[in-house]
Amino acid sequence: MSTTSKIAVIGLGNIGKVVAANLVKGNRSIILASRKLEDAQALAQQLGGLASAAKTSEAIKQADIVVLSIGFNTIQQFMSEHNSELQGKIIIDPSNPIAPDENGGFKKIIGNNESAGQINATALPNGAKLAKALGTLGAESLSNAAFRQPEKSVLFYATDDTSINADVEQLIRDNGFEPVRVGGLDQSIRIEVFGDLHEFGALGKPVTVAEAQEKV
Ligand SMILES: NC(=O)c1ccc[n+]([C@@H]2O[C@H](COP(=O)([O-])OP(=O)(O)OC[C@H]3O[C@@H](n4cnc5c(N)ncnc54)[C@H](OP(=O)(O)O)[C@@H]3O)[C@@H](O)[C@H]2O)c1
Repeated sequence: MSTTSKIAVIGLGNIGKVVAANLVKGNRSIILASRKLEDAQALAQQLGGLASAAKTSEAIKQADIVVLSIGFNTIQQFMSEHNSELQGKIIIDPSNPIAPDENGGFKKIIGNNESAGQINATALPNGAKLAKALGTLGAESLSNAAFRQPEKSVLFYATDDTSINADVEQLIRDNGFEPVRVGGLDQSIRIEVFGDLHEFGALGKPVTVAEAQEKV
């Protein structure tokens, strides 16, 4: 079902807007939702016929894949509030567990050895399947490096449920990147900010498949 799976993008800030624009460029239909319906309607209009807008609950109900492009701090509450609609869905979590520090940079807001992926997995609605994905580059690179020619750049992902690999990989391809799976959610820490496979960690920049495979 991977190329026909319906995608909802929830949260239309830095990342949600880029994911929505990439997916339309990748010829994928999307349902957009944010806290304010008007924001989703305005973006859908701007992106054209492949994008539609809906209230959050309705967008989730219509979708097979739900991209949660909202802050790490709000994901657990979101999954609790929308528990029944999210049951059985594929949830894509791009979150990075960081907040501004005192020096104009960012600091991790969970334990050094903890990952957002593993923490969010503890709050999953029944039957929902989680992939940590779409969060390994900053919003600027997620836009600028999409559909790169002649060689695509990589987006890493992690999931414990390999039955969703095909859907996640198609989602990444339709965003204009090549997917590389790093393993289960116990590897999620590597693809979050400060991890060795994150742009804002040891990776430092978008990489090609060959460069990515050397590092994984
Ligand atoms: N920015 C980056 O470069 C980057 C890179 C990689 C990963 N990420 C991750 O991607 C996620 C989104 O980051 P961002 O920078 O795009 O954040 P952002 O600009 O603050 O956007 C978040 C969006 O989510 C909406 N939202 C918040 N709570 C919601 C809810 N309960 N229901 C529906 N919509 C809700 C917000 O709406 P309102 O404006 O109305 O509050 C806003 O449009 C975060 O987890 C972040 O760690 C970000």
